[in-house]
Amino acid sequence: MKPRDDVTLRLLDPAETPPTALLLLGDESETMIGKYVSNADILIAENGSVIIGVCAIAENTPTTGEIKNIAVAEDHQGRGIGMQLLQHAIMLARQKGYVTLEIATGNSGIGQLYLYQKAGFEMTGIDRNYFVENYPIPIVENGIPCKHRVRLKMDLVP
Ligand code: ACO
Repeated sequence: MKPRDDVTLRLLDPAETPPTALLLLGDESETMIGKYVSNADILIAENGSVIIGVCAIAENTPTTGEIKNIAVAEDHQGRGIGMQLLQHAIMLARQKGYVTLEIATGNSGIGQLYLYQKAGFEMTGIDRNYFVENYPIPIVENGIPCKHRVRLKMDLVP
C-alpha cells in the first residue's frame, strides 16, 4: 500500500509520553497496557504534530516479538494507516532480528482478524475465555461477546 503523504511514522523516543488514549482504544485495560508499554517499541503515526496512530511491539523472547496494541484515531480509521503501521512494525521486527512476530485479538474483532490476515499473519490458536478471565468488564464488539483470544503469527524468515 502506498504510504499516505500526510502521515509520517516514527518510533517514540523513550523520553516521550506514550499516547494513552490511543492505546486504550486498542486495549481497554490500563493494567494490561502498563504491563507491556514501558518495555515495548512504540511506533506512532503522526499527522503534523498530532499522533493519530500507535503500534506497541514488545519482545516475548529474544527471537519473538508481539504487537501488543495497534490503534488508529477514530476519525482517521479506514484510510490505510492501520495497514501502514502493521507493515512498518513487521519491518522493524525483522530489523531487530525476530524470527517470529505475533499478534492477538478477540473473537469478536472481525475487522482486526481481516486486517491481520491480509497483512500476512496466520492463526495459530485460541485461548478460550481469556477476556472473560482477564478483563473486569464484559466486552461486546460487533454485537458479539468478546470471550476468547485468537492468536496469530508471522514467520519473518523464509
Ligand atoms: N472492520 C472491517 N474492516 C476493517 C476494519 C474493521 N473494524 N478495520 C480495518 N479493516 C479493513 C479495511 O477495510 C481495509 O481493507 P481493504 O484493504 O480491503 O480496503 C484494511 O482492513 C486496512 O484497513 P486500514 O484503513 O489500514 O485500518 P485502520 O487504519 O482503520 O486501522 C485498526 C485498523 C487499527 C484495527 C483500527 O480500526 C482501530 O484502531 N480500531 C480500534 C482499536 C482496535 O480494535 N485495535 C486492535 C485491537 S487488537 C491489538 O491491538 C493487537
